[in-house]
Amino acid sequence: MRTLFVVSGGDAPGINAALGQYVSLAARHGNVVLGANGGFPGLLEGNISPLSFDRIVPWLGRGGSVLPSSRDPVLTQNDARVRLKQVLEQHQVDNVVLFGGNGTLRYIPPILSEWDIPCIGLPTTIDNDVPGTERTLGFDSACNFAYHAIDGALTTAHALRGRIFMVETLGGTCGNLALAVAHGAGAHAVILPEYEYEDHWLGRRLAEAVKQDGFALLVICEGARGARTLADEIPKLTSIRVRDVRLGHAQRGGDASHIDRVLASEMARSAYNALRAKLQTGIIVVRQGKVQVHEGNLQSFTMTPPDRTLYHIINGLEESGEHSGD
Ligand code: F6P
Repeated sequence: MRTLFVVSGGDAPGINAALGQYVSLAARHGNVVLGANGGFPGLLEGNISPLSFDRIVPWLGRGGSVLPSSRDPVLTQNDARVRLKQVLEQHQVDNVVLFGGNGTLRYIPPILSEWDIPCIGLPTTIDNDVPGTERTLGFDSACNFAYHAIDGALTTAHALRGRIFMVETLGGTCGNLALAVAHGAGAHAVILPEYEYEDHWLGRRLAEAVKQDGFALLVICEGARGARTLADEIPKLTSIRVRDVRLGHAQRGGDASHIDRVLASEMARSAYNALRAKLQTGIIVVRQGKVQVHEGNLQSFTMTPPDRTLYHIINGLEESGEHSGD
């Protein structure tokens, strides 16, 4: 069996662990794994090489991806699909393992299935925004990365009191990551792209926290209104100093957590077994905490917004009857 790996879209901690687990299993059974260097643009240029476990070992626990990725939507270009088919034939690819987020996993498997090329998708993104799975690879590591930064901020917040700490997470226009981090860190407030809020409500909420706890912690998703302005606006509303911490891409590139390493290992094993069992198209998902193969593609699932009840609880909106404007 000759399997091709393609990593597409944003990388995520745990991808290297999954690559390693799969390659090691395949080698043990005499199967060959090829890697596309540079996602689909690299693949279309024929930039493919055999992937050995030895090449991956030093990177197993690290973030990023040994196989470079790309966000370039090259397959929308004229003739790109013809070229893709040619490359797959040329390299005698029997099946494909695809690492990516919602866009990649929706778009690519149906193309391959038109040509009867088996494809298994692994949902890999720190944003945890792939419908049909409770968990994407990389999400837990990105939460843990945020906790390290927040723990540091809170240590100094405790020593030098009377300030508001605003921590911005990645997540784009999806608030799942910011909500989970706010929950785990015990934030006083969380701001997400999906739910609108009033500035005066936020100012009051944070000022009350400073009065009660000596500091306030606000977690905000990078794509939410105010991510670029609140650090200046809140002091005007509260007369309290705001210090902001932007996790940025350091959050995406952090090391893989224990949970993501285990998830990577189980996802890789499930993908390998599914391809050996001749499954045509599937996505590896987590349901009720268990790694499973979903036969078919993602088209039957719709995206759900972040947990509104949790958002209300963190923001103290469930008891006060106050509304943030969402
Ligand atoms: O891969 C998901 C993600 O990390 C989002 O959290 C973030 O908004 C986006 O990618 C950043 O993309 P880029 O690296 O292309 O700037």
